Amino acid sequence: GGFAGGPVPGQSAHLAPTYAAINTLVTIGTPTALGVLDRGALKRFLLRMKTADGAFHMHEDGECDVRGAYIAMAVGTIADVLDEELIRGTAQWIASCQTYEGGIGSTPGEEAHGGYTFCGLAALVLLGQVELLNLPRLTSWLVNRQMGVHGGFQGRTNKLVDGCYSFWQGGAFPLLQSVLQARGELPAGGVGSLFSTDALLDYIFVCCQLKYGGLRDKPGRGRDYYHTCYCLSGLAVASAEPPT
Ligand code: FPP
Ligand code: ZN
Repeated sequence: GGFAGGPVPGQSAHLAPTYAAINTLVTIGTPTALGVLDRGALKRFLLRMKTADGAFHMHEDGECDVRGAYIAMAVGTIADVLDEELIRGTAQWIASCQTYEGGIGSTPGEEAHGGYTFCGLAALVLLGQVELLNLPRLTSWLVNRQMGVHGGFQGRTNKLVDGCYSFWQGGAFPLLQSVLQARGELPAGGVGSLFSTDALLDYIFVCCQLKYGGLRDKPGRGRDYYHTCYCLSGLAVASAEPPT
């Protein structure tokens, strides 16, 4: 029911390529592409990955972290297979990964990090249970990850700026905005008032863009698909009109 990173048999089903494959099939969007998905088998795979405390293994006997919970909720929502059994305990488990700093760590007790913060917040938005988080503390942690000199984001406290966090940190702001807006607590100016979109755009265009195409972590590093994808995703966030 899940997808592997390469040809089967040989490789086993894993949540990360399952996330990539399902988003790609939906992006292609033709009846042939959508027909690839066996929703019943997908649901059984997700249930096999689930633990009693609401977390998800990335693959059979593999690690459990907030990525797994997010991917299960994301592909479950896209394929419309989420039910009480699949979501039981997951929102509470994700909320237990929020740290004293306000961001979300990989598992309970781990350091707050942008990758897991996006995943945890997005999963709770999908589940409609964002109120389980301490939102003022989350907002304070997020806004302080934008670096004053560089304009880009760092992934965690006292670490270096990196273009990919333009999305992992930057992508949390539209989610936060939708939550604050629904509560009537949105600051005037929308998402652009919570961080400097201009400074982020400067970092992406000036520091991450390579002359011959592709984007990177930071000057001195090479381009790769991962940073190209997530710098461009951050660019989309920073250049989007705030929703009305
Ligand atoms: C730290 O790397 C980063 C991690 C341990 C993983 C971060 C998680 C994500 C990016 C989320 C992925 C989610 C999906 C759905 C694919 P590091 O120590 O090299 O970087 P740092 O110094 O910037 O923290
Ligand atoms: Zn990076």
